[in-house]
Amino acid sequence: MEEVNFLHISDTHLCFEENRQPICSSPQRVERVYAAAAALDQKPAFVLITGDFVHEGDAAAYAAARLFVQTMEQRYGLPTYVALGNHDRHDAFYRGFCETPAHSGPYYYKIKMPGLRLLVLDSAVDDQVLGRLDTEQLQWLEEQLEKGCTTPTVVALHHPPCGTTVHATNGNNLQQPDLFQHILERYPVKAVLAGHKHFATAAMLPGGTPAYTGAGVAFAIDMPQGGALNFVDGLQAQFCAVYDNEFYWSPFCLDERTVLGRMTPRQMREYHAEK
Ligand SMILES: [Fe+2]
Repeated sequence: MEEVNFLHISDTHLCFEENRQPICSSPQRVERVYAAAAALDQKPAFVLITGDFVHEGDAAAYAAARLFVQTMEQRYGLPTYVALGNHDRHDAFYRGFCETPAHSGPYYYKIKMPGLRLLVLDSAVDDQVLGRLDTEQLQWLEEQLEKGCTTPTVVALHHPPCGTTVHATNGNNLQQPDLFQHILERYPVKAVLAGHKHFATAAMLPGGTPAYTGAGVAFAIDMPQGGALNFVDGLQAQFCAVYDNEFYWSPFCLDERTVLGRMTPRQMREYHAEK
């Protein structure tokens, strides 16, 4: 089966105004991620953004976001698939990004390509920080999974469907996660990808499905110290690979770092040959 590589990023909190809050990303900041992805030896096929795509924007902001992702596709050959988060706004998203009439219904869809089926859900509830999946989407998810598919399946949404390593942040995750978990546990879903937390964390759902929460692009949250959460300027992404009927998820850092050593492809071959 064909190998698929893609980039999972989250919480871009895009803002196109000059006087943006420090917790929002400029388009230039998000472009750094696309540029880094395009330069990788294993070039991703697309970028998945698991919510908080635009920070509380109006239709004009979403129109700018549409133009931004089109530009990223032209410039780097990377199409973008988006899930909505609690800082997104449904009405504005439909009008500005989808160029359809405004409505408040959930934005969910599937993407199928050789080697991967991606089911994108909408856990965002306007004006609430916590997440919820309505009956319509849960039914749709079950229908999709019930159809059966030999292609590895990944499910994406904004709110993590389980706890995380940081108890203090768990209160606003997906509500009634058991409804979601009970569907997943009956089907061979390779992974659930989420965001919302702004730190990378992984878990196994009660039915055995792995759930990965991506770090935030706009800002990172460190492990708490003295009870406080620090919002810091760390830029991270997650590289995903699907091959041999397995799914792999690897966080990597885009901040400037000191290179301490280097191995050429030939040195790598020699190193492994010695083992
Ligand atoms: Fe966020």
